[in-house]
Amino acid sequence: MSLFFQTYPMARRALFSMDPERAHEWTLQTLNRLQHCRATRLLTNGHTPRLPRTVMGLKLRNPVGLAAGLDKNGACIDGLAMLGFGFIEVGTVTPRAQTGNPAPRMFRLPRARCLINRMGFNNDGLDAFVANVQRSQWRRQGGILGLNIGKNADTPIDRAVDDYLACLDGVYPHADYITVNISSPNTRNLRSLQDHEALDALLESLRERREVLADQHGRRPPLAVKIAPDLDGAAIDAIADTAMRHKVDGIIATNTTVSRNAVHGLPHEHEAGGLSGPPVHEMSLRVIRRLRERLGPSMALIGVGGIEAGDQAAEKIQAGADAVQLYTGLIYRGPALVRECVQAMQARAGNPR
Ligand code: FNR
Repeated sequence: MSLFFQTYPMARRALFSMDPERAHEWTLQTLNRLQHCRATRLLTNGHTPRLPRTVMGLKLRNPVGLAAGLDKNGACIDGLAMLGFGFIEVGTVTPRAQTGNPAPRMFRLPRARCLINRMGFNNDGLDAFVANVQRSQWRRQGGILGLNIGKNADTPIDRAVDDYLACLDGVYPHADYITVNISSPNTRNLRSLQDHEALDALLESLRERREVLADQHGRRPPLAVKIAPDLDGAAIDAIADTAMRHKVDGIIATNTTVSRNAVHGLPHEHEAGGLSGPPVHEMSLRVIRRLRERLGPSMALIGVGGIEAGDQAAEKIQAGADAVQLYTGLIYRGPALVRECVQAMQARAGNPR
């Protein structure tokens, strides 16, 4: 394994001595600088084995992707590409720039290897996002890029559709797939868009606009919906039915949880926001199994939540996911986790799920 990936435990010590958000920004800036360095590209090139998969009609080099939220502005796509992902999702972007919630708004719970965040879709807005995406080389080199869209905090929930449509228009020509994020706990009422009537109306509007955009651009990037882990069985079934009816191409399961069951007694337990990391693994597995049972084999499922080792990535596939995404595991384990997940899936490939 190359030195670049082995040195993370040392880098982590330094990063964990910083404020979490500061460490996050520093890491993205460093990756941005390293992407221009030929030596780093040589060190990282070929580190992750190929395990081609077709998901939502897209040809992935491997089924291990970067989850949304790590690069909200799409400013570091080529730097992140060096880590070996089979696909990269950036955003959540909102139509207008917004600062998000006041800091501190990201907390580490190292004993449980979790994070709590209430960032609140801090981002530079749609125009800056699209400009960054256009500048990146990843897609030109055959990489698959997902663009994740949301609503501004000050847009009333009954006008949310307008924000999603504005984002859909803006990102459409630049996306390999588009994710509709209706599950962040950090924008007031956003998760109510998962409720039956609201979801039906949102997906209907998106479906109509996709028809227009498909004619206009002569292509049809798949649309995925990203849902929460805190849904009961009936709600999961209703989402599956609505998604099928509106010809959604995939469901991403799941976002962070509002539950604190797994972190009782730990510092920061009471911070408001979404919890990510190991406790979300079982929760998202439950959602994936239920979705797969309801949907049958046709719709793509992307499993995300609490993957911190290769075995858990393989479990997501076994539960019915077609691909997985990582976030918090990367913070605690570093970029070697990407290859470990691909290798675990490779080892189990051929075993029916
Ligand atoms: C996220 N996540 C997220 N998801 C999303 O769709 N849009 C976003 O803007 C964000 N922002 C964000 C910020 C931070 C700090 C974290 C930790 C997470 C959710 C993320 O993509 C993923 O769904 C969950 O974190 C669960 O996966 P992990 O982190 O347990 O692997």
